[in-house]
Amino acid sequence: MTTITCIEDLKALYKQRVPKMFYDYTESGSWTEQTFESNATALQHILFKQRVLVDLSQRSVASTLLGQPVTMPVALAPVGLTGYQHADGEIKAAIAAARFGVPYTLSTMSICSIEDVATKTSAPFWFQLYVMRDRDFIRRLIQRAKAAECSALVLTVDLQILGQRHKDIKNGLSTPPKPTLRNIINMATKPRWGLGMLATPRRDFGNIIGHVAGVKDTGSLSEWTREQFDPGLNWDDVAWIKDLWGGPLIIKGIMTPEDACLARDHGADAIIVSNHGGRQLDGAPASIQVLPAIKAAVGDRIEVLMDGGIRSGQDVLRALASGADGTLIGRAYIYGLGALGEAGVRETLNILRNELDLTMAFCGCTNIANVSGDILWS
Ligand code: GLV
Repeated sequence: MTTITCIEDLKALYKQRVPKMFYDYTESGSWTEQTFESNATALQHILFKQRVLVDLSQRSVASTLLGQPVTMPVALAPVGLTGYQHADGEIKAAIAAARFGVPYTLSTMSICSIEDVATKTSAPFWFQLYVMRDRDFIRRLIQRAKAAECSALVLTVDLQILGQRHKDIKNGLSTPPKPTLRNIINMATKPRWGLGMLATPRRDFGNIIGHVAGVKDTGSLSEWTREQFDPGLNWDDVAWIKDLWGGPLIIKGIMTPEDACLARDHGADAIIVSNHGGRQLDGAPASIQVLPAIKAAVGDRIEVLMDGGIRSGQDVLRALASGADGTLIGRAYIYGLGALGEAGVRETLNILRNELDLTMAFCGCTNIANVSGDILWS
C-alpha cells in the first residue's frame, strides 16, 4: 500500500475497496456535473499571499463553531448512506470526529440510527433533518434527536425534490442494493467491504425503517424521495421546526444573499452556503463563488459555514479567508472511511489539519482569528 500523504491517496484506496455503485454515489453531481466539478476547481483558483519573517513558534488552528470549541473549524457534513461506504460507517465517522474534536453531522438518510450513534459516541453530534410529508414522523424524529442530546439541528432546504444523477439511475442505486448481476460481480471483488457488511446488522435506513408506518424498505432513492419528501416545504415551516427543536438551528443549502437574509430573519443561528456538493441544481455557481456576497449580506449576526469542493486544508483556509466561519467536508471524509474505516476518517482530519496549519503559517498567520481576505491575492 502506498504511504497516505493526501486526500487523493485516500480516494484512490476508497475506489479500490468500495463497490462501484457507492463510489459513484459519492463521486457524482447532477446532470452535467458542472457544479460538482467547479466547487473544487474554483477553490484552486484562489491564490495565497506568502509572508515571511513572522514568528511562527506559537500556532493554533483551534476555533469555535456555534459557540463550541473545535480543534479546527471543520465539521463532518451529513452524507446519506454512509453505512454502505463502510460497515457501521456513521458510528465510525462519529467516533473519529469526536476523538479529533470536531462535530459530526448524522444524516436523516443514515444507515445507523440516531440512537445507535448516540450510544456509541461520547460527544454530542449534529442531526441533519429532511422534512417528509408525514409530519408526525418528523415531530418524532426531532424528539429523537433531542433525546439523543444532539447539539444542533441542520435543516437541509435544497432537497424537497431530488436532482437527477445519471450514475445512480444507471447503477440501480437502492436500499437494499439491487442484486443485479453487474452489482453482484462488482461486490464480489470487494471482500473487505463485503465481510464488514455481512458482520453488521445495520444495512437499512436506521432512522426510518420501523419508524414510518408501512415502510419496510425504501427501494430506489429517487422513488422514495418523490413519495416521502415534502415538496411543499417553505419558509413558514421553519418556525414550527425551530419551535419543536428549541436548540441551535443551522439552515443548509443557501446560495444567494436573499435566502441568507431570509434564513437569518427566520431565526437560523447559522447557515451553510452549499449547493449540496453539486448534486441538486447543476449550473449553479461553486459555493466559494457566492460565499463573499452572502457573508457581506448577513455580516456577523449569524455564523456562515460553507461546504462544496473542500479537499485539503488549503481549501479550508481559502473558505475561511473568503468569509466563512467554518467549513464542512463530505466526500473528503467518505474517501477516508471507505478506504480505512475509522482510522481513515482520522487520517482525513489529520491531513486537513496539517495542511491548514502549514498554509496559514506560510501566509504569516498563527491563529484562526487572524485569518482574513488579506492573505489572498484578489
Ligand atoms: C442526499 O442528500 C444526496 O445528495 O444524495
